[in-house]
Amino acid sequence: MENFGLYGNTAFLYDFDNRQLLNDDIKFALDYVKQQKGDIMEIACGTGRMTIPIFEEIKGSGRSILAFDLSDSMLDVLRGKLSPEKNHSCLQVEKGDMSNFYFNRKFGLVLLMWRAFQHLIDTEGAQNCLKCIYEHMSDDAVLLFNVFLPKDSYGKEWIGKEFITYDLIDKKNDARIIRSTKNIDSDEARQIIRYLTRYDLTLKDGEKKHYEDTIVYKYYYPEQIKELLKKHNFDIIEELNSLNPQNKEITDQYYVLKKAKV
Ligand SMILES: C[S@@+](CC[C@H](N)C(=O)[O-])C[C@H]1O[C@@H](n2cnc3c(N)ncnc32)[C@H](O)[C@@H]1O
Repeated sequence: MENFGLYGNTAFLYDFDNRQLLNDDIKFALDYVKQQKGDIMEIACGTGRMTIPIFEEIKGSGRSILAFDLSDSMLDVLRGKLSPEKNHSCLQVEKGDMSNFYFNRKFGLVLLMWRAFQHLIDTEGAQNCLKCIYEHMSDDAVLLFNVFLPKDSYGKEWIGKEFITYDLIDKKNDARIIRSTKNIDSDEARQIIRYLTRYDLTLKDGEKKHYEDTIVYKYYYPEQIKELLKKHNFDIIEELNSLNPQNKEITDQYYVLKKAKV
């Protein structure tokens, strides 16, 4: 069931995802960057999809952002975005595991976005992650946290299904990129799903290439994730299932959390 390769084959294609949701969550995060005081920690930052806009927002302000991820491939993409001419002293990029981290600092804003928490499929890893986050938050800190809304069932009818996420032209390289998903299997008792993300590329000269990665997620029903967060001493300040009233596609749940006063 496990077999999750941390986006090792497809990290360089990750940022082509142009779904509205992935613009809306950056705006959502930037609103909190402006609102909160203190330094920022982004957990499982991936390719820096969100890290770079946050860095642009805070640079020169005296605040800093620490971003970490466990995937070398994702971090390589992020580091490739840092132009040598720019001063990145307020941005620290590290390799780290969200189920076990310690930076000896506290932050005013912590982000764990775009379903990253759900890659922790074991209960112990998920619980440790929440404990580590709690320890790194200042008293007034905010945690932005997201999970996808699960389907009613991941049984036989789910397995084997394939669909195209997007089909677009990469104008820079004059290449066509089709991203599709194929559901492989599920463990409904453990609430884990496994699917294949596949990218089919047609390059400028007509050459065809394909890349794929296995993705593994644990899914949570809203009551379960709320219980888990409360159990780890987080108060739910806000709960949103849409970040944009124009976007009618409700797929995810977003939480704004603070440390509970204990
Ligand atoms: C769906 S991506 C989201 C990336 C980023 N948060 C975003 O909003 O685009 C999930 C990320 O979680 C990272 N990840 C998975 N397991 C991890 C772990 N144990 N510790 C740190 N990062 C992890 C993956 O490498 C990947 O970059």
